[in-house]
Amino acid sequence: MKCDLRFDPERYSVEQAERDGTKLTYRAFENIPYAGRPVSPAFQSLSIYAPEEYYTGKNHGRYSLHTAPIFMPNTVGGYMPSNIERPGVNFKGETNAAFAALKRGYVVVSPSTRGRGLKNDDGLNIGVAPAGIVDLKAAVCYLRHNRELIPGDTEHIITNGTSAGGAMSALLGATGNSSDYEPYLREIGAACDRDDVFASSCYCPITNLDHADMAYEWEFSGRNEYHCVKPEFEVYPEKYKNRKDLSLDFVEDGPPKLIQVDGRMSDFQIELSGKEKALFIPYLNSLDLEDRAGRALKLNADGTGSFRDFVGHYLLKSMDRALEDGTDLSKYSWIRRKDGRAVDFDFDSYIDYRSRMKITPAFDNVLESPTAENEVFGTGKDNFCHFTQFSYENSRNGWTMADPDVIHIMNPMNYIGAADVNTAKYFRIRHGAADRDTSLAVSAMLTVRLRNCGTEVDYHLPWGLPHSGDYDLDELFAWTERILG
Ligand code: DHB
Repeated sequence: MKCDLRFDPERYSVEQAERDGTKLTYRAFENIPYAGRPVSPAFQSLSIYAPEEYYTGKNHGRYSLHTAPIFMPNTVGGYMPSNIERPGVNFKGETNAAFAALKRGYVVVSPSTRGRGLKNDDGLNIGVAPAGIVDLKAAVCYLRHNRELIPGDTEHIITNGTSAGGAMSALLGATGNSSDYEPYLREIGAACDRDDVFASSCYCPITNLDHADMAYEWEFSGRNEYHCVKPEFEVYPEKYKNRKDLSLDFVEDGPPKLIQVDGRMSDFQIELSGKEKALFIPYLNSLDLEDRAGRALKLNADGTGSFRDFVGHYLLKSMDRALEDGTDLSKYSWIRRKDGRAVDFDFDSYIDYRSRMKITPAFDNVLESPTAENEVFGTGKDNFCHFTQFSYENSRNGWTMADPDVIHIMNPMNYIGAADVNTAKYFRIRHGAADRDTSLAVSAMLTVRLRNCGTEVDYHLPWGLPHSGDYDLDELFAWTERILG
């Protein structure tokens, strides 16, 4: 299949959406292929939504048809294939970011992308890394290629995503125009143009995957009980033994039933946990991170040190903001308050409060059950691969190692400050202080690395929030308005 990459401004419909008493009329250019040679056309297309008022010569505040910023949310979750989302509601039934953006006069670009689990007719995997980020970059290239024809200002593209989608947003922001992605972009026939973006918003990014296991143990090592929800078919396989096609996404009749599982790690897992934590210290120290005052952020052998203090500083701010908003923190005896402010807290008690969700290794499993990440690092033929040397060496499942170049291009940390790369000027990173899916160190390292290389980062760990995103759309768009000047 070959697709024309010229945008057709005449192919549209006029649509309406209503939320919370606000009715929007918008022009919808839908399901446009953004790759010249798509591998999976349904998952390599985008829709553009623009306020209809722009086509009647009106402005929306300071924005008009060709000066409006472009808001580009992705719906990637769990590193799976993602779908286009129309302005309206998200998968939770809440007003989505696309609606909130359109309401403020932004042009919205919503792409679909390939992801793990996607197979072609020959049964080969066609959504494994780096497919998702390559698709998003191809979408940006398409917009730039058509900059004169599409609504919106392609010099002001702002990306947004949550979790794996937050990781995608971080990659878009961090890796602009890197030549490492070129062969992949060429393969799908992407338009030849720049793929850098103006700003990136990332909620709880599941990123830096090749160091996420060790970061997790930096926080949770020594906590050997875990508490999580799992699909029933994994916990009681005998109930499902006659069923085919069981996956984390679907059993035969829909999404799997999830049940609460509390358990204790095995001695083997506990041993790995200690080793992973020990590996994190030299990794963190090798990054040569500095705070805003130029002080080194480092860790001691026991995991304490100025980097932990840095994370602690943001946690304290989080508690303080919660108090300001009227949240009752009195049940947390380990938070010290004075005159209505949070002034200190005990880090270990905070980790106990958060509690371990994932067994060791959290992302690159060494036992039989693959994680989302093992699947996204698969190859055409291999459904699951390792992506850390440590898990490969300790493997009890026989998976091979993913291609080191693919592991490299999936990590935004490798690109920030690199010579041939245009990293976004602005980032907004939110990581709920009750998130247990990945370590707070992951978002903290990303923040500091970006700041150290000249990107302005608005970083906050909102109190009490678990792994989630788009929960503060008013604040998100207050930030976009601020950076747009
Ligand atoms: C997501 C959550 C995870 O815990 C993970 O390992 C990967 C992705 C997600 O929600 O996208």
